Amino acid sequence: MILLSPGCTTPQLNTPPVFADVGEPLPFLTDDELVRFEAGKALFVRPFAPSEGLGPRFNENACSACHTFPADGGTGETSVTKATRFSDDGRCDLLVPQGGENIRIQVTPLTRSLGGFPERSVAGATHTARFTIPFVFGLGLVDAIPVETLEARADPDDRDGDGISGRLGTDGSGQPARFGRKADVATLADFAAGAFGLEMGLTTPVHPDESRTGSLPAVPEGSDPAADPEVDAETLGRVVDFMRFLAPPAPAELDGDPQVAQGREQFESLGCVRCHVPEMRAGHHASTALSDQSIALFSDLLLHDMGAALTGTCAPGASPTEYRTEPLMGLRYRQLYLHDGRTSRVMDAILLHGGEAQKARDAFAALDRLTQETLLRFLNTL
Ligand code: HEC
Ligand code: HEC
Repeated sequence: MILLSPGCTTPQLNTPPVFADVGEPLPFLTDDELVRFEAGKALFVRPFAPSEGLGPRFNENACSACHTFPADGGTGETSVTKATRFSDDGRCDLLVPQGGENIRIQVTPLTRSLGGFPERSVAGATHTARFTIPFVFGLGLVDAIPVETLEARADPDDRDGDGISGRLGTDGSGQPARFGRKADVATLADFAAGAFGLEMGLTTPVHPDESRTGSLPAVPEGSDPAADPEVDAETLGRVVDFMRFLAPPAPAELDGDPQVAQGREQFESLGCVRCHVPEMRAGHHASTALSDQSIALFSDLLLHDMGAALTGTCAPGASPTEYRTEPLMGLRYRQLYLHDGRTSRVMDAILLHGGEAQKARDAFAALDRLTQETLLRFLNTL
């Protein structure tokens, strides 16, 4: 049972959060859902060949080439570089024609033989940043959280005066968005279609046009002979099913460790919970396994200004210093922290918080070493 700090707008949750062993499906799936989960998993790990439409430019040939540790859908050692242009008037240009949204570091052999090249730098970019691989565990529940729940927590003008605003992200077409570190993708299905295009150079019925999938800046004619869409709606749907039915990873079992309990209290009293909201609840859903279930995500899924030290790229609704609160669920399985993986120490990740998180960061920094350790011990159970 999670106690929320005073002033929080979310009611007390009475259903315990749902989870399973890492990489396992949600409990209580129907037989049909389980079949779809397994079929989707097979596609998530399946390498795509250039003859099937991979490329002309791409980063990897399978979802699981990046999302792999400690189970399919997890993190990985690679990262993706993005480049964007942020203007003084606050506008963000993803530099799609210049290849900016995701820099693609590989080309297919055919493209290379025709004189095509991978991307390196992006003309006109003001900001370039690396993004490490997030988990896709539990994202079906994240997808099912009502947008009203997120809106209720947003405080864009900081009316309550706690120094923490929090804004709902938006995608390129103005839809409220919760996926991606810049909260710039509205739904799980949108993200899957985007990933096929941006990471693998595969067109889908959602993005049938090669121009978003690595043919810009221009590649030689004939670089990508496969007929579009290269991935059909069925394949795309199954990959979404895999992620939809993939359970949140279970926390470590350390019941009764007084230090962990103390660390949990610190996490509340320092104000970490104001952004890293311990639990969120999905709305009604056609699948019983998801419907009204809670997820121990440790994020509010809102954008926060994190200060100049964490400057990265911009997104349609986010400035270079704004990020969606990183979920801490599964933190013990991660080895590199913050969006660009700049540190391998959780302690440093906390100390690098600035902007809206400056107060919480300073309060943590002011603790004695032993009390700091209790907080780290708690985080290491997630
Ligand atoms: C080259 C590495 C790479 C490949 C291949 C890749 N991804 Fe990702 N994925 C990333 C990175 C990097 C991010 C973070 C991007 C961001 O925050 O904007 C990400 C984010 C995601 C997210 C959003 C997670 C969240 O917390 O909001 C989903 C969903 C996702 N990927 C699904 C997929 C699917 C499905 C595939 C295969 C079609 C795939 N990815 C292939 C690197 C990859
Ligand atoms: C104002 C909102 C906010 C507050 C308050 C806040 N955080 Fe964060 N936290 C974030 C955001 C946003 C990120 C992602 C930053 C990035 O990726 O560059 C993050 C990232 C992290 C990470 C790295 C996770 C990872 O996998 O990379 C840890 C650990 C963390 N926070 C712990 C804490 C702790 C402990 C506190 C309290 C002392 C705290 N945070 C307070 C917003 C907040």
